[in-house]
Amino acid sequence: MINESGSPIAKHLVNSLRDARCDAQRFRQGLRELAKVLLAEAAMHLPLAERKITTWQGSFTGSFIDESRVVCVSILRAALPMQEGVLEVLGEAEGGFLAMKRDEQTHESRLYYDRVPDLKGKTVILVDPMVATGGSLHDALSLLTERGPDAIVTLNVIGARAGVERVASAFPGVAIHIAQIDPHLNKDAYIVPGLGDAGDRAYNTPD
Ligand code: PRP
Ligand code: URA
Repeated sequence: MINESGSPIAKHLVNSLRDARCDAQRFRQGLRELAKVLLAEAAMHLPLAERKITTWQGSFTGSFIDESRVVCVSILRAALPMQEGVLEVLGEAEGGFLAMKRDEQTHESRLYYDRVPDLKGKTVILVDPMVATGGSLHDALSLLTERGPDAIVTLNVIGARAGVERVASAFPGVAIHIAQIDPHLNKDAYIVPGLGDAGDRAYNTPD
């Protein structure tokens, strides 16, 4: 299920990242903020729990996100600021890491690090800013669904339409929350207009 954000705040933040003058620090900050906007849009998928607390007026019972049942998984590297944004809101949630790198010739992604906690009974928030061919997100979802979580939602910043639709049709039970969908890929499988290489822009590394 594809949920493209209609939020003017999301549009403002994504279009600020498109600006070539946006430096690495502001790029990471923008990704953190976008993760929070998308998290708010995806929050209906998160588990709630009633909790009793003591307030200045005495005892109060209210709803909280059950952070003990949430795992936020990032696909390194470009997703790291998004994961930070999610964990700034859900401070008691667990974090998991998958590292994937696209081969520049074949555009296929290769997994080279997997540090994801037990997912039984958990809701996974999978973050990755870019969905180009959709290969990285597809492979990450295959790996995570095999581990039996209760639900998975993804938070993504920009996707190429064909890549996002490929993932959505392979995983109809996953809620894909994406800020903007761009029309196509170039011959090197970069999203156009997109952001360029999000990992390089976030961490100031040359191509
Ligand atoms: C980027 C991005 C996605 C992937 C998307 O990572 O963060 O994971 O490309 O492309 P796809 O949909 O065609 O698979 P990249 O491989 O550039 O790694 P990096 O974040 O370390 O730069
Ligand atoms: N990875 C990126 O960072 N950007 C793209 O446009 C495609 C893959």
